Amino acid sequence: MTGVTLSRWTMSYFAAALAALIAAECLMAAGYGYPAAAIGAPETLVLVHIVALGWLSLLMCGALFQFVPVMIAKPLYSNMLPLPTLACLLAGLAALLLGFLQLAGVVTQGAPLLAIGAVLLGLGFSLVLWNLGRTLWAARPLPLPSHFVIVGLCSIGATAIFGIVFAFVLSGVTAYPHLVDVATMGLPIHIIAGLGGWLTFTAIGVSYRLLAMFMLAPELKGPTTRGAFYAGASALALIIIGGATAICLHGSLTVILSIGGLLGLAAMALYGTDILHLYRARKRRKIELNSRMAAVALGNFAATAALIIILLVFGALERNIAAVVFFVAFGWLSGLGLSKLYKIVAFLTWLECYGPVLGKTATPRVQDLVVEHRAIRWFVLYFLGVWSATAALLLAQPSAFRVAVAVMLVATAGIIVQLVRTRRLADVQAALRLPAGVRQPRLLFSWNNLPERKPT
Ligand code: HEM
Repeated sequence: MTGVTLSRWTMSYFAAALAALIAAECLMAAGYGYPAAAIGAPETLVLVHIVALGWLSLLMCGALFQFVPVMIAKPLYSNMLPLPTLACLLAGLAALLLGFLQLAGVVTQGAPLLAIGAVLLGLGFSLVLWNLGRTLWAARPLPLPSHFVIVGLCSIGATAIFGIVFAFVLSGVTAYPHLVDVATMGLPIHIIAGLGGWLTFTAIGVSYRLLAMFMLAPELKGPTTRGAFYAGASALALIIIGGATAICLHGSLTVILSIGGLLGLAAMALYGTDILHLYRARKRRKIELNSRMAAVALGNFAATAALIIILLVFGALERNIAAVVFFVAFGWLSGLGLSKLYKIVAFLTWLECYGPVLGKTATPRVQDLVVEHRAIRWFVLYFLGVWSATAALLLAQPSAFRVAVAVMLVATAGIIVQLVRTRRLADVQAALRLPAGVRQPRLLFSWNNLPERKPT
């Protein structure tokens, strides 16, 4: 990792994100929201946003505050701003969820909570965009993986704008006809911009860099990588800008979504080719657990494309859209997120503790902070849970779905215990754990700003 500082609050983002994941899994295992409630029911909206905003978006923001500077070898514009940003996002999420409960009649408070939550979330994401935008701007010309991140950041802007419009219309703050049209027909755009643009496209950009870094493989910038970028970016631009225009001018949204979908599939295929190449060209022969589990998540991503095509052929996509969204969120995005967290937490903790004393005293290697043979069973259990839960949704078996999610919950708790042990240096040999000049890391934030170091 070249010449960059540690992002002070990234661990707080990760902790908040993991708490949201556990909360969502508890709710699903308890039978809250879909499939017990309708897809559009307020209970499902609560669940969806705990996952999309609380878990996946906070995880992504925390990772970006650390890895955008790594990608471009320039420091983060502000290392202070992420804390108020997190406060805004958490307050916004809480208000949004209360707003959904208001729609369900569970909360009877009179204030327009949905709109307040949307504005706070809008503010939080604006701060994310400002901080990362200034960081990227200072580093022009930018490497290719960061172009994916820029498109991802534009997509969260679009997702938030659509979300804010929905919230304002639903809470009765506005009845302006174009905005009502957007609220009535814009849901697919909100979902694609969020899951496809913000979470998937950004994850793709970060994964190009992280997989190459952690497997010691060459950086990719050839025609397939550029192709994946242009196909994906034009799919998103078409769906978001073209889709919004079609809604306002009463054009056909279906045509736009279909062309965008084809471009998106092409981008996925090109990305798949690149990733296979990265795994084959790696110099690190023994693949670490994080990269093996990331490969499973990437397999799930490819399986999503296959599932969508099969459901389309049988005319069953609309009926099974919840199963597809579930598989994208938990098989692909959460699978990749958990596997990369396993390495990132170890790597950042190692850098924080031992970076400053490297070369001055004996220090452990990054891999000495983790015990892979213990962690693997939780990852295997997690993926078994996800596959079973997706199958249960496809086969309309709500009780089996709850059991499968309970398995995911146990597995996630197991993975979190491993992360906490890593952060606590609990698995490092006592003789190497805390040499002179090294202090015990805190769970929720990082101490040091570091000189340039290479991992061992
Ligand atoms: C500023 C942030 C956001 C706000 C204010 C917001 C707001 C909303 C609102 C009000 C709805 C209900 C729309 C309706 O039923 O007419 C909705 C639906 C939805 N949102 Fe968001 N959202 C935000 C971010 C996100 C993100 C980042 C994602 C995904 C990555 C996401 C995924 C979804 C999904 C999948 C639905 C449909 C859920 C269902 O029908 O059960 N949202 N959003």
